[in-house]
Amino acid sequence: MVHTKVKDFFISKYGNSPIMVKSPGRVNLIGEHTDYNMGLVLPASIEKAIYFAVHKNDSDHITVETFLTLPEQISFDLEGKHEPFNAFWGNYFKAIIEILIEKKYTLKGFDCVFGGDIPIGSGLSSSAALCCGFIYALSNALDLSITREEIALIAQQAEHKIGLNCGLMDQYAVLFGRKSNALFLDCKDLTHKYIPINLNGYSWVLINSNIKHNLAVDSEYNKRRTSCELVFSKVGETKNDVNSMRDVTLTDLENCKPILDEKDYKRAKYVIEENNRVLKMIEYLESGNADETGKTLLQGHWAMSKEFEITTPELDFLVKTGQKLDGFMGARMMGGGFGGCTINLIKTEAMENIVDTIISAYKKETGIDAEVYHLYIDDGVHIMK
Ligand code: GLA
Repeated sequence: MVHTKVKDFFISKYGNSPIMVKSPGRVNLIGEHTDYNMGLVLPASIEKAIYFAVHKNDSDHITVETFLTLPEQISFDLEGKHEPFNAFWGNYFKAIIEILIEKKYTLKGFDCVFGGDIPIGSGLSSSAALCCGFIYALSNALDLSITREEIALIAQQAEHKIGLNCGLMDQYAVLFGRKSNALFLDCKDLTHKYIPINLNGYSWVLINSNIKHNLAVDSEYNKRRTSCELVFSKVGETKNDVNSMRDVTLTDLENCKPILDEKDYKRAKYVIEENNRVLKMIEYLESGNADETGKTLLQGHWAMSKEFEITTPELDFLVKTGQKLDGFMGARMMGGGFGGCTINLIKTEAMENIVDTIISAYKKETGIDAEVYHLYIDDGVHIMK
């Protein structure tokens, strides 16, 4: 177990028995690129996680290390200064410490060891798990009482500093997720409620295309955001009270079509329709309608492929292959795009066959070994007993 290794490593190195924090990754059932458009999303926190072992020390240094990815220890002083480091993850901690200092939280020395089993760059939000988990652990170790809402904002700000202009879906899923439920989040006012997602006789499965993305470095994600901002500001020239894409209807969009770039128009249309898909999906989940749930997943996927243009040929292949099989209800790419996992809804009795068929067709087509993860929805960030 990863968390035992993290804890044992901490104890052998620092002697103290640490506070252990589990910070989960997340899936998203539907509602992609709607969060920064003040729209609707339906994510869930999963059992794959990053584990943090933390304990106060009596020095004026914060040390962070992992033995799992790139083994490296990074040490920050209480003003956030540090020696040069190589690990990419170090940038997140650096950004967080800088933000906490700006916000005048009183930092004290502490040691932190982390490790986990969320595959990086696969659309399961390893970076939100990293940021939210670290802030939560630090807040507990130093008695800072940072609320979950505030943690989400700090973690988002850290992503922005590194270069990804993300919304708040990932952070909310990681912080507010609840076992066996999806989190229906309205990103306009950040209200949320829980939706049970069990469909009797059907299983949710993730297939990792093993095409890794780095959204913070590739700017395509940010370009989508810019397109949406352009559209709502143009619509705002013709209508009052337009503050985000959430205030733009399909009719508004059609009216403004002549003054919009064709690509931006397509992007905006996708966002409005994706919000509607979130509402429909909730209705289907609540009434136990697996057929329509599956169809909605597929609509979402092909809209991301053709209109929002954030999938890859490999992800399209995974979905297309499944669509030909009996018992396969639907699937879609998940997360920011350009790689990562698909989320699939499959009849449980046909699951093994279907997954095997998809995986071997994928290997033949691309030469890549895809990985399969069964979906277990677990609680959001918490201290482990
Ligand atoms: C990434 C971002 C999120 C969200 C998704 C796409 O995961 O961090 O804020 O925009 O992409 O839905």
